[in-house]
Amino acid sequence: MLRVNQKVFDKHRHATRDAHAKSHGVLKGRLDVYDNLPEPLRQGVFAAPASYPVVLRLSTAPGDLHSDRIPAPRGMALKLLGVQGQQLLPGRENARTQDFLLVNHPVIAFGHAAAYLKTQQLLEKHADDPEAVRRMLAALAHGGSKALHLLGIENPTIDTLGAPNHHILGETFYSMAALRHGDYVAKLCAAPLSDNVRALTGQPLRDDAGDSALRDLVVDFFRQQGAEYELRVQLCTDIEKMPIEDASIRWPEDQSPYLPVAKLTIPPQEAFSPARRVFADDVLSFNPWQGIEPHRPLGSIMRARIRAYETSSRFRHEMNAQPRIEIDDLAQVPD
Ligand code: HEM
Repeated sequence: MLRVNQKVFDKHRHATRDAHAKSHGVLKGRLDVYDNLPEPLRQGVFAAPASYPVVLRLSTAPGDLHSDRIPAPRGMALKLLGVQGQQLLPGRENARTQDFLLVNHPVIAFGHAAAYLKTQQLLEKHADDPEAVRRMLAALAHGGSKALHLLGIENPTIDTLGAPNHHILGETFYSMAALRHGDYVAKLCAAPLSDNVRALTGQPLRDDAGDSALRDLVVDFFRQQGAEYELRVQLCTDIEKMPIEDASIRWPEDQSPYLPVAKLTIPPQEAFSPARRVFADDVLSFNPWQGIEPHRPLGSIMRARIRAYETSSRFRHEMNAQPRIEIDDLAQVPD
């Protein structure tokens, strides 16, 4: 991953994230944990009714800046501030943040570290061939099955995952892989809640969409209005049908539905001012391991992420000569 990241750096002479390089908006908001949650849901940051300041970065998955006309999985990274509890990352004992990294599919096509390595090798092989990367990305965004097929991996549960080039704000974003949920194990999602973002679900980008169409949609939307999303938790209730080690297997929602735990409120704002974009792209980092013990990431794909995020962020921060900091106040994020 680092070798590909270095190539992308050489192209731009600016370091980007090794994945989710392109941001489309950076938002400040608030997460309110619901009252009266049943005990299995009342865990970690959701243990008691509380209000957390949140910074949120919207992105697309590739580790380079492609045109938004090419369909690509979308990301929503959340950082909750003012979180109490034992932090997972060594050297970050004093941090007070909890990150949740979400993508708009319920599962990750390459659900364990060995399968992920194969994708990465393919990406590296084609790093100098934008057409091949384009085709791979489109295959991934359209469900992953073709990309899986390319790699000789068959997974019947992937075929249902159609994802054309839709408006980013109408999507539902998932942890894909499992996390500890206090004494339980769960997956997490953020779903559109207010009518204005629900209305955007499934809305295709216009035919004349430009290279930065997603940014334009996000900026225009939040200049006029705010939005609400709901955080939901899917508990693992059957370890056979809801495996932890292979994150490509969809946990059946008829057996364990996603249950509401908190509301994310994002007021109208300037979503992508130059100062905010530079801060979010170059200074901020989101990391699934940035957080507290009750939300410890689980499974091989999550363990692989420990070094991947550390390496990517270290390279990016060093090459752009930026400090690696964990914020503790939303005021640090420029307006
Ligand atoms: C389990 C499914 C996964 C989800 C939901 C996910 C989600 C995300 C999101 C939303 C971001 C953007 C964060 C931001 O805005 O700063 C991101 C970045 C990144 N992801 Fe993942 N990811 C997953 C799996 C993986 C895996 C398996 C790897 C590698 C082993 C990986 C490596 C990276 C790297 C290196 C970055 C950039 C980190 C940085 O430079 O700050 N991800 N991911």
